[in-house]
Amino acid sequence: MKADRRKMLKKIDHIGIAVHSIDEAKKFYEEGLGLTCTRIEEVESQKVRTAFFTLGETHIELLEPTAPDSPIARFLEKRGEGIHHIAYQSDNLEKQLQQARENGCRLINEQPVPGAVGKQVAFLHPKSTGGVLTELCEIQNPEL
Ligand code: CO
Repeated sequence: MKADRRKMLKKIDHIGIAVHSIDEAKKFYEEGLGLTCTRIEEVESQKVRTAFFTLGETHIELLEPTAPDSPIARFLEKRGEGIHHIAYQSDNLEKQLQQARENGCRLINEQPVPGAVGKQVAFLHPKSTGGVLTELCEIQNPEL
């Protein structure tokens, strides 16, 4: 069991924040905080448009829904704008998911799916993480 709990997590990769409009919300990050938007990308699998702001080793990810049935659209309807998820970077997403599963975590994604910035990602259900939607991700292309 101990061997299964080796530390595969490297850092907090990003904090995901749900917004109605990236164009509106990015003003605060750019003008209010002085950050620079380094990337805007649509992720079809999640039906979102994302905007990334890099700060040191981590990022802020703004998430705007691209369809009414997007998970982010449902989140906004229920909870309004705000922190949506925390993403941890792992060096082995498959094993990381297996460890979570074996330790009683409910997985939203049984298998990794393509995320923004060419990453592989998988979400853990907030019901089994103390209410925090948790993303695990693994970098595929360090150039991006
Ligand atoms: Co994310």
